[in-house]
Amino acid sequence: MKLTIVGSGYVGLVTGTCFAEVGHHVTCVDNDEKKVKQLQDGIIPIYEPGLEALVRKNVQLERLKFTASIEEGVRNGEVVFIAVPTPPQPDGSVDLSYVEKVARSIAEVLTDYRVIVDKSTVPVKTGEKVAETIRRYRKNEVDFDVVSNPEFLREGSAVADLMNPDRIVIGANGDRAVAVMKEVYEPFNAPIMVTDLNSAELIKHASNSFLALKISYINAVAAICEASGADIGKVADGMGADKRIGREFLHAGLGYGGSCFPKDLSAFIRISEDLGYEFNLLKEVERINADQLERFLKKMRSVMWVLREKKIGQLGLAFKGNTDDIRSSVAISIAHKMMEEGATVRAYDPKGMEKCAVHYPKIPLVQDPYEVAQDADALVVATEWKDFKELDWLRIKSLMRTPLVFDGRNLLVPDEMKNLALNITAWVVRP
Ligand code: UDX
Ligand code: UDX
Repeated sequence: MKLTIVGSGYVGLVTGTCFAEVGHHVTCVDNDEKKVKQLQDGIIPIYEPGLEALVRKNVQLERLKFTASIEEGVRNGEVVFIAVPTPPQPDGSVDLSYVEKVARSIAEVLTDYRVIVDKSTVPVKTGEKVAETIRRYRKNEVDFDVVSNPEFLREGSAVADLMNPDRIVIGANGDRAVAVMKEVYEPFNAPIMVTDLNSAELIKHASNSFLALKISYINAVAAICEASGADIGKVADGMGADKRIGREFLHAGLGYGGSCFPKDLSAFIRISEDLGYEFNLLKEVERINADQLERFLKKMRSVMWVLREKKIGQLGLAFKGNTDDIRSSVAISIAHKMMEEGATVRAYDPKGMEKCAVHYPKIPLVQDPYEVAQDADALVVATEWKDFKELDWLRIKSLMRTPLVFDGRNLLVPDEMKNLALNITAWVVRP
């Protein structure tokens, strides 16, 4: 099929590439001409495992192309996906101006029936607004349908998530659009769930909020483990073995960050409020998450006494492992907090440093994970990169002034560290 994706960021680019990989002909549109030029030249502006090779392959096979022209995109694609940002506003509500602008632009160049699909995470009832906007701005009575098809990909494993989804949600108010969407997803061999437009939109916010709730829940349980000397890893294993609970997203640590959970949670709280329901449960989820950083710093102070004039090496800047994305990263907040307290910080991340240098130039970076350990009074593990687990920790110890490690992601195995005579303060005590 001929498909178009408007917005070639983390979501749009990976989605478009995976559609091409299964055989569709995809046009990726972006209003950032520099980005389009880069993509046309084979330069991928984001790091996502497996993505670069797939982009190259599908460009070569002429199944994937890039343009800055929305007109070209709408002409080329029988289905047009909207994957532009939906950032938070200061009051927590969602800024839908990009979605609205794209809807208007599509309407203005619409000449034949198109299915217009919302991929971006949007508040319930946005699809209705998109349809209203298109009706208002279309040049003639061209027929179209609006569909909600939320994306559940996780950065760092986006290609795998997209190629093997747990489910595909199609929210539509008409059979014609559903038939088209089923054809789009036919090659994926995944269960397709058809709902009305509003329900599909809600599935996304409700799912992300629930996952965030799981993380805050385990972080709260971790506090109890810490106070009682129980082992949070074992508690999470024991809970997760129950199929009704599941082990995933029960990893205690510094809490969630990134461009989705924090914004989706505050959006869902706000949406509920607007609909007359006070979602206090989610407010508590946010509060617990915000507390994690303070609790971690408290832990550091309790061991190091003062942070002022201490040299602290930081491993990790990205909001999670396997990505270069530093948006709303707790690791960035930690670096800033430690610097505010007068510590000298040096940080390293396998993929996140380029973006960090651009957006947070005050955070000093080093090019090698061992360099962060040089003469350090302590090391902080702020991102769950598997690479950090595989470092030569004996060498790290020999480089440090005092062998203190604060593992904010429960990534390292405390017993192994203790065998190396590294004094590890994991996020939660494992007896
Ligand atoms: C975005 C939204 O933030 C998220 O809510 C939604 O679920 C999916 O899309 P992401 O892909 O991570 O997430 O955003 P980003 O990497 O910033 O990519 C968005 C792209 O859209 C950028 O390349 C930007 O240049 C482009 N864009 C933005 C347009 O093409 N047109 C616009 O009007 C605005
Ligand atoms: C999330 C959702 O998982 C995905 O379905 C949705 O489409 C977009 O938002 P993403 O934000 O890319 O994906 O990554 P995710 O793996 O969910 O991690 C989010 C944050 O939670 C990270 O900061 C991570 O470190 C943290 N996290 C995750 C934990 O602290 N503990 C866990 O057990 C899992």
